[in-house]
Amino acid sequence: MLAVGRAGAFRVLSLAAPGVPAAFRPGTFVVASPGDDRLAARAWWIHRVDPASAFGPTIEVVVDPGSPSGAWFADLAVGTRIALTGPLGRPFTLPRQPVAALLVGEGHAVAPLLALAERLRARECPVTLLVGARDEKHLLAVREARRLVRQVVVVTEDGSVGHRGVVADHVGSLLASSSAGVLYTAGRPDAVRAVASIAASSDVPSQVALEVPMPCGTGLCHGCVVAVVGDDAVPRQVRACTEGPVLPGHRIDWEALP
Ligand code: FES
Repeated sequence: MLAVGRAGAFRVLSLAAPGVPAAFRPGTFVVASPGDDRLAARAWWIHRVDPASAFGPTIEVVVDPGSPSGAWFADLAVGTRIALTGPLGRPFTLPRQPVAALLVGEGHAVAPLLALAERLRARECPVTLLVGARDEKHLLAVREARRLVRQVVVVTEDGSVGHRGVVADHVGSLLASSSAGVLYTAGRPDAVRAVASIAASSDVPSQVALEVPMPCGTGLCHGCVVAVVGDDAVPRQVRACTEGPVLPGHRIDWEALP
């Protein structure tokens, strides 16, 4: 571990990760093995990559010290060696033609969206980013996003910054005002379900990076199963770590998710 930075209530871990930046695509993740019998492996979305830093190829991941494993990792000393596997999982699919995109994330789930915004911008897609959090301390990457995308809309539950409320309150109007042809979101099923549903009811396709427990991250343990409906309309189960974590929103069986 090269550095631990602060981003409001979160910690941003900078890690030397040879080979990861070169294969990285937004939405992919790494699995960190703490080397401590008390903690399971932890999956982190890759937030940023730098293929050629002064320390070689590096990545950044966002950790919430308010969670048990997050506190453990955030307290590690710089220089600690962490076993990392990645990048893993299926990334966001990028449009072939320029199309307006709405990106929606709350709290640390904004982590995979910044690099996605960069790639969309490189494809000349006008990007609107809707960032939510319970309060100002839990807003992530707003300043960087303002330099990167056409429009950033901020929502906090306590109204300390931006609009008061939750992101779902603003998705419908932003889909309309931005003329978005695609919606990208990331987060826990309970957090992104309403967002994906609004996109569906607006006939806008969505790509959803699901945050579910991933005990192994490599397809072996079946601890990350997600119910989906296939192109053939047949219900089935997929593993979020190998067939996801990014899935088309209309394929996810939201009723079967926690
Ligand atoms: S996390 Fe083990 S199979 Fe997906």
